[in-house]
Amino acid sequence: PLVSMTEMLKKARNEQYAVGQFNINNLEFVQAILLAAEEEKSPVILGVSEGAARYFGGFKVTVEVTKVLMDEYNITVPVAVHLDHGSSFEKVIQAIQAGFTSVMIDGSHYPLEENIALTKRVVEAAHAVGVSVEAELGRIGGQEDDLVVQDAEAAYAIPAECKQLIDETGVDCFAPALGSVHGPYKGEPNLGFDRMEEIKNLTGVPLVLHGGTGIPTKDVQRAIQLGHAKINVNTENQIASAKVVREVLAENPDLYDPRKYLGPAREAIKETVKGKMREFGSSQKA
Ligand code: G3H
Ligand code: ZN
Repeated sequence: PLVSMTEMLKKARNEQYAVGQFNINNLEFVQAILLAAEEEKSPVILGVSEGAARYFGGFKVTVEVTKVLMDEYNITVPVAVHLDHGSSFEKVIQAIQAGFTSVMIDGSHYPLEENIALTKRVVEAAHAVGVSVEAELGRIGGQEDDLVVQDAEAAYAIPAECKQLIDETGVDCFAPALGSVHGPYKGEPNLGFDRMEEIKNLTGVPLVLHGGTGIPTKDVQRAIQLGHAKINVNTENQIASAKVVREVLAENPDLYDPRKYLGPAREAIKETVKGKMREFGSSQKA
């Protein structure tokens, strides 16, 4: 069933595993992620950036395609369709009206008070219709679609501010920027575990780790122990599928039927997602 993230993340936080948010880029991603979740008996979050929704033909198309596929595939595990890095109150409302069951409002580039005010407005509107909300503090570096944050702008979240935002807004989950990066890492990630522990001790909501591509398993496990119940992955699936497309086309220079290269790409995404679900501990938790 299509649900909000609230229950799945509470359960994950209590039982110390993380639900994956896998970003969708095209139809093959939706198919692969839904099938992976069902096969792993794992709850799952489909992450939809505003750019990805545009590519799909809008928020409505994204939701409806997901629903029809879930019917066709007889999906029994909980699935949330989540707006990733929502950029404004208006966009969030449009997504909710189209049927999104969860939204992120990314006010991390605003001063704290403004971020809180915006997030609070979103929570009031979203909760009125049973939609869950994620917020962000600090700034996650790197690039994801339209969102580009230079190294110099990337900032670790301040624990006291995290507590204030969570207390004053009532968000369902919270993404403190703690050194993770969108896209591939330059060298080893340097996650701020000290602050992560402080944030865990000061707050109670499930935490969200963005930039899940390329984080070593030991760091993933530590982040889960320190309150993370949601981990976002996009680039890793993009890399896995692009690799297969390159290989298939290189081996078959005369091939032009997209099903012959996107089919194997879809398979690669599915296997990558299943691997992540096992790594995050969400397999068999649906
Ligand atoms: O919001 C989406 C994620 O944080 C994805 O990050 O592309 O580095 O895996 P990633
Ligand atoms: Zn992100």
